[in-house]
Amino acid sequence: MKIVLTIVFVCNSSILFAQNSGWQADPDLINARKESRPEFIWKESDVPDYHLPDPLLTTDGEPVRTLEEWEQRRLEILELFRSEMYGRPPGLPNELTFETVEEDKSAMEGNATLRRIAIKSNYQGRSHAFEVILFIPNATPVPVPVFLLMNNRGPENTDPTRVEQSGFWPAEEIIDRGYAIAAIQNGDLAPDDQERYHKGVIRLFEGAAAEEERSSDAYGALAAWGWGASRVMDYFETDPRVDASKVALIGHSRGGKASLWAGAEDQRFSLVISNESGAGGAALSKRQYGESVRAVNRFTHWFNTNFESYNDREDELPFDQHMLISLIAPRAVCVGSADEDLWADPRGEFLSVAYASPVYAFWNYEKIRPDQMPPLDTPLFVGPRGYHVRSGGHNLTPYDWHVYMDFADTLWE
Ligand code: GCU
Repeated sequence: MKIVLTIVFVCNSSILFAQNSGWQADPDLINARKESRPEFIWKESDVPDYHLPDPLLTTDGEPVRTLEEWEQRRLEILELFRSEMYGRPPGLPNELTFETVEEDKSAMEGNATLRRIAIKSNYQGRSHAFEVILFIPNATPVPVPVFLLMNNRGPENTDPTRVEQSGFWPAEEIIDRGYAIAAIQNGDLAPDDQERYHKGVIRLFEGAAAEEERSSDAYGALAAWGWGASRVMDYFETDPRVDASKVALIGHSRGGKASLWAGAEDQRFSLVISNESGAGGAALSKRQYGESVRAVNRFTHWFNTNFESYNDREDELPFDQHMLISLIAPRAVCVGSADEDLWADPRGEFLSVAYASPVYAFWNYEKIRPDQMPPLDTPLFVGPRGYHVRSGGHNLTPYDWHVYMDFADTLWE
């Protein structure tokens, strides 16, 4: 007889967080949320106990003890996320070309070189094209590390002419700090719309069948956006002015869910940044706080349809989001939350980073303890993992960008 000892993390919020000096949600805000959306949980003491699967225990219950065993377990976890949540990626097109649409060596008053590149794919007679906007600082020796934003807001936020300047993508400030800055428009890969989301990468690969019922593990918009980020990475590898070994992929909110998944799928991204990605991103699903699996699945085009079977059944998920963070190890990951963005569950986002510690330990990186959530506006950087909670609401702000650049400085300087 084989006896399998299952080790689970039993998480009880009130015990873990009663005494620490870290961030706590504002009680007035909690009350306001409880009043406006009483069907969700907002108060720490209302969070039911939950059990997190151990990243270091295989599906068969075997403990993972060595780095080699972890590499196998990593593939197992990746496969679970593909089949139950984000979907299987489409792979590569038959043909991929990069075409420079514009080059301006004296952009930003001479401080940067602008390149706009069209990334064109052909697959079985069908074609798809999207553009990456890239500014490279003229004063920094090449090759230069780069931040790539997966833009989920309007294209005016990443205006290549710089007539419009947005704090969501403060390109001048990033150039001033010696980093290159790039952006893609997620909607070019998959429109963020449940009726039209297949009119991009999905149609490229699936043709007319994209309009019909797709398989229950077929990828949705989040993975399609990530596919685009990977094709930009293919381009970076050809551009001698960009340091493809130092690419930070960043996304906000739904874009942050996509950046984490892209970073799990594509190990070439050396830093993955999730800004307020919440449910389906950095926040733990089994911890019931703020947005639930059912609530995030109202965006029916983001995940695969298998994920809908976990609506109100989070306990049944064979993984949780600390295992998504673990898939990025030993590469760097930085997670940001906002004080007023309780919908995204700041503490649940922090805990995913903390509970990835046993995996980062394979490379001897220091642990982040679950009771180590930092105070407001006080970033915590521990080896290749970072976390901060900023004052204010749901947004990607210049402050957040400076935290991410400070973190990148610690990795790359
Ligand atoms: C909604 C959604 C979130 C998402 C956010 C966004 O609030 O419920 O899951 O992160 O939109 O992308 O702005």
